[in-house]
Amino acid sequence: MALKISVIGTGYLGATHAACMAELGFEVIGLDIDQAKIDSLALGELPFHEPGLPELLRKHVASGRLRFTTNYEDVTAWADIHFIGVGTPQRADGHGADMRYVDAAVRELAQRIRGKALIVGKSTVPVGTARRLAALIESEAHPEAEISLAWNPEFLREGFAVADTMTPDRLVIGTQDDDSEAILREVYASALATNTPLIVTDFETAELVKVAANAFLATKISFINAFAEVTETVGGDITTLADAIGHDVRIGRKFLNAGVGFGGGCLPKDIRALQARVSELGLTHTMGFLAEVDEINLRRRERVVRLAKAMLSGELVGQKIAVLGVTFKPDSDDVRDSPALEIAVELFNAGAEVFVFDPKGNKNAAGRFPRLHYVDNLEAAAQNADLILLLTEWAEFKALTPEDLTPLVTHRRMIDGRNVLAKQDWKTAGWEITSMGQHYAPLDGDI
Ligand code: UDX
Repeated sequence: MALKISVIGTGYLGATHAACMAELGFEVIGLDIDQAKIDSLALGELPFHEPGLPELLRKHVASGRLRFTTNYEDVTAWADIHFIGVGTPQRADGHGADMRYVDAAVRELAQRIRGKALIVGKSTVPVGTARRLAALIESEAHPEAEISLAWNPEFLREGFAVADTMTPDRLVIGTQDDDSEAILREVYASALATNTPLIVTDFETAELVKVAANAFLATKISFINAFAEVTETVGGDITTLADAIGHDVRIGRKFLNAGVGFGGGCLPKDIRALQARVSELGLTHTMGFLAEVDEINLRRRERVVRLAKAMLSGELVGQKIAVLGVTFKPDSDDVRDSPALEIAVELFNAGAEVFVFDPKGNKNAAGRFPRLHYVDNLEAAAQNADLILLLTEWAEFKALTPEDLTPLVTHRRMIDGRNVLAKQDWKTAGWEITSMGQHYAPLDGDI
């Protein structure tokens, strides 16, 4: 009999997983406690931006293979496998992960399930969680229930979520029993048929794989950004340096783009949660380097603000600054922990008139910081600008040439926060252009 799948939590991870499972041929029900989100998804409308996902959602809502509910009874009475894709945000009172949504989801399921079922955790969690949840299930489950638990971390990137789910570069399953592995092999049969590497392991390794991957990526970005601090001081070209070391296959060129640093809903919170977790385990110094990784990353944002001030001769009050891009990366409308948004707000706080244009992110940014000027096209942002800041490398910003902006601005000044523009062309056209990692006259606060 075909497997019936539920997905608990319908944010980026859950909504993508649900739609992709339907695309693979399974019948799927998605659950969220947010009624508005469920109403929108049930109409085939995605409440966030993710390329390719709206099409899948509409297709399978129409076919009837994908349904949505806010009611746990609908889920437990019907599905055999329950994927947990709820959020594990940073706690309000510290750096650890807030586990209340995962715990609540598992408890709700465990109390209602009758007969055989498999719960599969996909959320990013502190190591030790699966073992703790297995005990929770044991204590909460009905005597007529036979519930197994597996951990199957998700590695999807925003902007590529559908491709990363349909054709993952690896699958990781943490399990304590052969049955769960067999069921998950059936779920992922199409990816396995194309020789996708499958790692079957214990709970702890599966949990750690996810945080280790994100910690490594964050470290790689901060590594090159630390060298950007050096070239900013002594001269040198950070992109050439990255290209040169990237040719070494042991290092690789990916994730060595110096810029305004990393943000989003995963990397920043995951490196903090990992430090918090290992400290809890008594390993106070083990992940200490991640505090540095975080610091280097946050210093990039300050650097842009100081650079802006220096380029405007020390005075931000009343200056018109155009901010191009406010999301944490292109092809996303996500502004969580976005370097671009934080920089825009700092400039505003220092007295600048900040005009923001982002192809998808204005609405979410305005929800957080309504006092910036949000405009709906590039021209309106750049009009009469004293300084332009390119902070998110959307394709349309990468393709900009001096001819596009020269007629609009008051002063030809540009900070390329993502090192994506052909600097020489801009200089030739009379622009003062500075990128990350570039030496500039000593800035306020430089030692
Ligand atoms: C990340 C992981 O890549 C993914 O595997 C995991 O499941 C979730 O977290 P995501 O948050 O979507 O995915 O973004 P990612 O593409 O990894 O970029 C993270 C941040 O790093 C962005 O702000 C990006 O602009 C920045 N970045 C990336 C750099 O500053 N330089 C780089 O070279 C690469």
